[in-house]
Amino acid sequence: MQNFLELAHDRYSCRKFSDREVESELIDKIIEAALISPTAVNYQPEHLFIIRGEENVQKISEATRYTFGAKNFIVLGIKTDRAWIRPTDQKYFGDIDGGIVAASILFAVKDLELDSTYVGHFDPNLMKKNFPQMENYDLIGIFPIGYADESAKPHPNHTKKNPRNLMITEI
Ligand SMILES: Cc1cc2nc3c(=O)[nH]c(=O)nc-3n(C[C@H](O)[C@H](O)[C@H](O)COP(=O)(O)O)c2cc1C
Repeated sequence: MQNFLELAHDRYSCRKFSDREVESELIDKIIEAALISPTAVNYQPEHLFIIRGEENVQKISEATRYTFGAKNFIVLGIKTDRAWIRPTDQKYFGDIDGGIVAASILFAVKDLELDSTYVGHFDPNLMKKNFPQMENYDLIGIFPIGYADESAKPHPNHTKKNPRNLMITEI
């Protein structure tokens, strides 16, 4: 059992998955972790689309080239009219809630000894055409999920970090 900091260090964007099947109980645990994420005013605007099956994977690959050989995907949508809007300045919090849910998914995946990558580069209109169930959601992320291929490794960017003085101010 890793502590959180070890888990956070171990996580990286995995871009090559093996053929090993992902047990459906593990997908259920990832869903559970996603749905207990904190959201503004607890409005829970997120919606998860669980995608499996060759035909569906083909439909995803029409909308993004970032599928990495995965056979299981979670698509994260936000029901925008269910998200909090801060009354003082009308700031929309749906994207922030979605980012927190996304982080829960990524860390839960790693905790279960699976891997993933946040994929933001896709065509949302093509996704909605291929999956009409997604029509009324703002699609903010696709998460390919699987066991890493044995040749998978972090991209060199994974360890490239801005200097601390750009990121932290101690006052
Ligand atoms: C919002 C967001 C969108 C991303 N979209 C993509 C993507 O479309 N394709 C991809 O290969 N990686 C994508 N990534 C992964 C980033 O490139 C990656 O997290 C970053 O380079 C740091 O590397 P690491 O995750 O291995 O630490 C995305 C990450 C985030 C947070």
